[in-house]
Amino acid sequence: MALPDSTLITHIGELVTNDDGEGAFAARTDAALVIAEGQVAWTGPASRAPAADAMVDAGGRAVLPGFVDSHAHLVFAGERSAEFAARMAGRPYQAGGILTTVAATRAATDDALRANLARLAAEMARQGTTTLECKSGYGLTVADEARGLALAAEVTPEVTYLGAHVVPPEFKADPDGYVDLVRGPMLAACAPHARWIDVFCETGAFGADAAAAILAAGRAAGLGARIHANQLGPGPGIRVAAEAGAASADHCTYLTDADVDALVSARVVATLLPGAEFGTRHPYPDARRLLDAGATVALATDCNPGSSYTSSMPFCIALAVRDMGMTTQEAVWSATAGGAAALRREDVGRLGVGARADLILLDAPSHVYLAYRPGVPQIAAVWQEGRLVAGSVT
Ligand code: NIG
Ligand code: FE
Repeated sequence: MALPDSTLITHIGELVTNDDGEGAFAARTDAALVIAEGQVAWTGPASRAPAADAMVDAGGRAVLPGFVDSHAHLVFAGERSAEFAARMAGRPYQAGGILTTVAATRAATDDALRANLARLAAEMARQGTTTLECKSGYGLTVADEARGLALAAEVTPEVTYLGAHVVPPEFKADPDGYVDLVRGPMLAACAPHARWIDVFCETGAFGADAAAAILAAGRAAGLGARIHANQLGPGPGIRVAAEAGAASADHCTYLTDADVDALVSARVVATLLPGAEFGTRHPYPDARRLLDAGATVALATDCNPGSSYTSSMPFCIALAVRDMGMTTQEAVWSATAGGAAALRREDVGRLGVGARADLILLDAPSHVYLAYRPGVPQIAAVWQEGRLVAGSVT
């Protein structure tokens, strides 16, 4: 008897499940999977697949968990292509470029911001992302930050308050006053719309004491902590993350041995964002060093109009494999289960029974092709909670 409203996907050449109980990449060949009521109801050999109401023949192609993009800045207006072109011609990236986007975002209508957010979320879905995190951080007033978070909450539950992105121009002479605003009235207005709080802890943004105070206030307001740390140079951000019990420290480009130890012992996920190194010409983070030390590594896009204007997890996987010392299996795990760990989610990033039926049908026989054929569209179809949201199964 078929499960009600069930779909069987069969003749899967490689089914990536990440579900061996070891917290590592796991896959089986010649597999099948049944979706029912938005969840994975069965996985196993194609020869033993149960009946279902509908059937999809994968024709030997690969099926993977949907990507979990745990770091993106999608609430913004405008673009900064001239800044990118200047960087490619040799100019350095500066955190201050963020203020160009702040001005454009403050001036934008709700509908304009909503349309841009929807465009980027749809772009991500077409490239296999089924869970996305979205930060504020281009408003930097109480009203603009709360508005950004409310808009983000229309597309994802993984909403992050980043009032501490940079100090806005009106607080240039009083940065401490801005920190008080961020951890006081702005937090009070933003916390109801958010699950997470984030701080850009970097020279030119926020120092260790301010970052620690802001994260502590966020945690007291019920938000989980995450951080932008060690992106543009060495600094105290990883230590702050470990002390704050952060779920994730993001960027991790410039790490000391003590930083690596702190990530491992405090069980802070190291989220690597190679799109930012691509877009700023900084060196790529050393994933191999983190993995060999026992850290949990996630990959995410950092999609934003300044440092990393990509929405493509396949692009990040290809960079991680080519330039960050990751195997293809590690990179795919980090883009799926790793992102789930960074968001403390157990229902996504894997395709075991009971997981959310978020999955990708690749136009290729194995996950390796994501790095082997960089830049080539290979996402044939995407399901979110069992519903086909992009591509087609023919
Ligand atoms: O993650 N590092 C801080 N924030 C973004 C950059 C934002 C921007 O340049 O607009 C990042 O790279
Ligand atoms: Fe970022």
